[in-house]
Amino acid sequence: MTNKIRPEILSWIEESVLPQYDAFDKGHQRDHVRYVISTALELSQHYDVDKEIVAVAAACHDLGLSVCRETHHLESGRIIREMACLKQWFSQDQIETIAQAAEDHRASSKNEPVTIYGKLVAEADRQIIPEVVIRRTIQFGLKNYPEMDKAGHWLRTLEHLEEKYAEGGYLKLWIPESPNAARLEELRRIIRDRDALHKVFENVYKEEMYKDILPKAKALLEGETDSIAGMANLSALIHRTFGFWWTGFYRVVADELVLGPFQGPVACTRIPYGKGVCGTAWKRRETVIVPDVEQFPGHIACSGESRSEIVVPVWRDSEIIAVLDIDSEKPATFDETDKIFLEEMMTSVSKVHNA
Ligand SMILES: [Fe+2]
Ligand SMILES: [Fe+2]
Repeated sequence: MTNKIRPEILSWIEESVLPQYDAFDKGHQRDHVRYVISTALELSQHYDVDKEIVAVAAACHDLGLSVCRETHHLESGRIIREMACLKQWFSQDQIETIAQAAEDHRASSKNEPVTIYGKLVAEADRQIIPEVVIRRTIQFGLKNYPEMDKAGHWLRTLEHLEEKYAEGGYLKLWIPESPNAARLEELRRIIRDRDALHKVFENVYKEEMYKDILPKAKALLEGETDSIAGMANLSALIHRTFGFWWTGFYRVVADELVLGPFQGPVACTRIPYGKGVCGTAWKRRETVIVPDVEQFPGHIACSGESRSEIVVPVWRDSEIIAVLDIDSEKPATFDETDKIFLEEMMTSVSKVHNA
């Protein structure tokens, strides 16, 4: 069947259906439904199907979001069955097929879409993007197993990805011609390459942990008038969350940095301006990341265990009042992610004004 879509159906979708998506969350705006329509139509070329049914089912598949997120697929089916205007273009059976396809767009491996129309919409509705799949797996673990440590989350992530996405996993592609096939292949390649997967896991996990503690850090310092107290709690929060080797503050006192609140082993008490990584960050007035401390000229070895380091200035107006210093016993621990989140976290110290 290679029917064309009647212009009146296309303009009805454009003028009456798509605007309804403006009221939904940002993952379900017009760009989402347009993507689903065009992908479903593209995939439908491989099958002997009615393109008008595909287009209308794809256009209406998420309308149920106006009622309830949890059951929106069923609500979409109900809304479609109640649409009087469809009767001028479709038979009762065809309307039922459209409604069923919308209901089936959240199909799981246990409940396959009933018709090819449901399969087309369901496949077009999902995008298997390796980075997104891995992130959602980690987010799910963090939300549902808060007591689990990082090693536990790594194992859980691995297990879930293997079970669902690896070769022989339970995930089914409804339409083999889907662009998801190539993306799934890419995901499988990452799952097979344990080092690559572990790298992605490390990055995502770190970001998720920072996102989790950022509001906690802000809440801890909210209304606090003593910056030492604030620094003490922040160093504990960061240190306990990530298990770094050493986490603490050096305060600017006259022309040197003086040790402030910290967690970890005994450290240097005073650091001159421009010396070591801390003094350099103060002098350069910017965050300094050192992947290998032995390669850093003038590094002050407070501890032989430290392999990499990050130092983030703490500002008050245009003055640096302290630096946050974190040491890791592993090389290349810190990157742009740490810089972004730690700089943001330090703004809450900047707001503390000593009474
Ligand atoms: Fe949906
Ligand atoms: Fe959708």
